[in-house]
Amino acid sequence: MKGYTLNMSLGTSGAILYTSLSDDRMGNERSRLIENTQATWEAVMEILEVIRKRRSIRAYRNTAVEDEKLNRVLEAARLAPTARNMQERKFVVVRDGETRRQLMEAAKNQSFVGAAPVVIAACGTITDYVMSCGQPAYTVDVAIAADHLTLQAVAEGLGTCWVCAFDEARVKEILGVPDDARVVALLTLGYPAEEPEPRPRKPLSDMACRETYS
Ligand SMILES: Cc1cc2nc3c(=O)[nH]c(=O)nc-3n(C[C@H](O)[C@H](O)[C@H](O)COP(=O)(O)O)c2cc1C
Repeated sequence: MKGYTLNMSLGTSGAILYTSLSDDRMGNERSRLIENTQATWEAVMEILEVIRKRRSIRAYRNTAVEDEKLNRVLEAARLAPTARNMQERKFVVVRDGETRRQLMEAAKNQSFVGAAPVVIAACGTITDYVMSCGQPAYTVDVAIAADHLTLQAVAEGLGTCWVCAFDEARVKEILGVPDDARVVALLTLGYPAEEPEPRPRKPLSDMACRETYS
């Protein structure tokens, strides 16, 4: 910022606005800064708002999920990072009513699994790669992709619920998942028919600490 001064203030959206430059010739630069800063702030807000809005949805409207929305939700999962960028994941999208009913039975008869218009089985396809930290990569990779999916669903006006209470052998049988793949989670997807209150979360001070574990 050598050669000119910036005055900063908070705009109504909370964005930092560069309100004046001493050198008028820097007008273009000023506009660019305002634009970039606002765009960045808006992006930050949008992501956090989506994260805040997400709930586990266990009641769904009897409305089909449009293919375009479904594809964007899956695209969000596709873009998720994976260890070594291996991308060894497969998401089985189920719309068929009878298959959903069977999945519901395999998921301890959790009725919303059968009632959701879409159920997605999130699978790891290579499951024997253990990272140097000792963690198997596939559970982490599939979970990140699944979380991307749930957040894009919110942005599309859709609801999801993670379901991990299920009989994996039975789910594999129903969906024809090969022996060497694993089903990490079922995700229900559809238009919400409920607006649950946020579930409580521990304070940040319980979750995060600085420099050393405490
Ligand atoms: C790994 C995982 C497994 C879960 N399994 C189930 C499940 O089998 N059935 C269910 O109703 N909810 C399940 N949930 C949803 C959690 O109960 C829910 O995320 C938690 O209570 C917080 O509520 P929220 O998602 O609305 O913030 C699961 C969530 C996660 C992350």
